[in-house]
Amino acid sequence: MSEQIQRPPAEVRYAAELARLRETDDGERPPGWALSLRAARAFVIGDDKLGVSRKFVGDPSLIDRALVTLATSRGLMLVGEPGTAKSLLSELLAAAVSGTSTLTIQGGAATTEDQIKYSWNYALLVAEGPSTRSLVPAPLLHGMAEGRVVRFEEITRCPLEVQDSLLSPLSDRVLALPELTGPESMVFAREGFNIIATANTRDRGVNEMSAALKRRFNFETVFPIADFDTELQLVEAEAAKLLSASGVGVPPRRDVMEVLVTAFRELRDGHNTRGDATDRLSGVMSTAEAVSVAHAVGLRGWFLRREPGTAADLVSCLAGTAAKDSPEDLAKLRRYLEQQPRGRRGGQWQALYEARHELPG
Ligand SMILES: Nc1ncnc2c1ncn2[C@@H]1O[C@H](COP(=O)(O)OP(=O)(O)OP(=O)(O)O)[C@@H](O)[C@H]1O
Ligand SMILES: [Mg+2]
Repeated sequence: MSEQIQRPPAEVRYAAELARLRETDDGERPPGWALSLRAARAFVIGDDKLGVSRKFVGDPSLIDRALVTLATSRGLMLVGEPGTAKSLLSELLAAAVSGTSTLTIQGGAATTEDQIKYSWNYALLVAEGPSTRSLVPAPLLHGMAEGRVVRFEEITRCPLEVQDSLLSPLSDRVLALPELTGPESMVFAREGFNIIATANTRDRGVNEMSAALKRRFNFETVFPIADFDTELQLVEAEAAKLLSASGVGVPPRRDVMEVLVTAFRELRDGHNTRGDATDRLSGVMSTAEAVSVAHAVGLRGWFLRREPGTAADLVSCLAGTAAKDSPEDLAKLRRYLEQQPRGRRGGQWQALYEARHELPG
């Protein structure tokens, strides 16, 4: 069964690592936590001695601050550009701290309080009235009652009044169920409960957060990967994993990955490796996008020709990611392919240049 799931949650993907960490973990655990801070940190950033893989690439002190925040009575807010692994990090932290990352609310314009707190089984509600039997807990109620971390993705995309339903769970650590009576009308959070929210900076302004809610979170910014080699390694490794899961028999080519990561960085930063200004795309050229383009390049190569993809495949795959719905971005991309590959060493730059006409439009 499990091999048919496209993407099992982190606690399933890394079940063996979590078990090993639990066994060797002799650090103090905050109340309600599945691991000590040290072991949780090792789960996220890796530990060679324990055979734990590095899953998030970035500043280890960010992980320490994030974990400390989760042990306090404030929520953790991860903000940053799209595709900087905020969601991945929140998943890993929840899996490490609570052993589960699936108590997740996906924020959006249509998110309702029901989807956050609880709703009712209407057949039972009509037949028996409100009771714990007819109550259908949503992630927040689950997390509070069981003492686990709840994830709130893209919180700033929710209407403000819906976001504010987190106020009393965060400050008083209690959720009222006014439909019930007696002791059941209040759910007090158990130790281990906290909230990790994510928000990306491009969406901010669609719905600002209330000042009251902001005060109940510690904000941490997740930055794009600064170093070229680190980003290259990550894109190559992640693409290799995705390709093998897609039934592709060969790993991506290093020289193709180099061209891909270089192009992404230049189109993101607005200057090339020689320091000359280039066009900067308005669309998102994140590491996450680079991984998904590398995956598509490999799929094209393998399923069309039974070989790893080349820079020519990259041209076809780039249009759909980089240019999306913007004709200006498409024009900038065309100019980039016309100008930047020239004079660079390596056959794949040449291949990129020669395939430039395959850009649609
Ligand atoms: N620093 C990083 N460490 C590990 N993986 C990264 C990193 N940056 C990007 N990635 C890649 O990006 C993917 C995660 O993207 P994710 O969806 O978590 O980003 P996000 O910040 O939540 O984006 P969005 O704002 O669009 O929701 C990972 O699966 C990984 O392939
Ligand atoms: Mg996300």
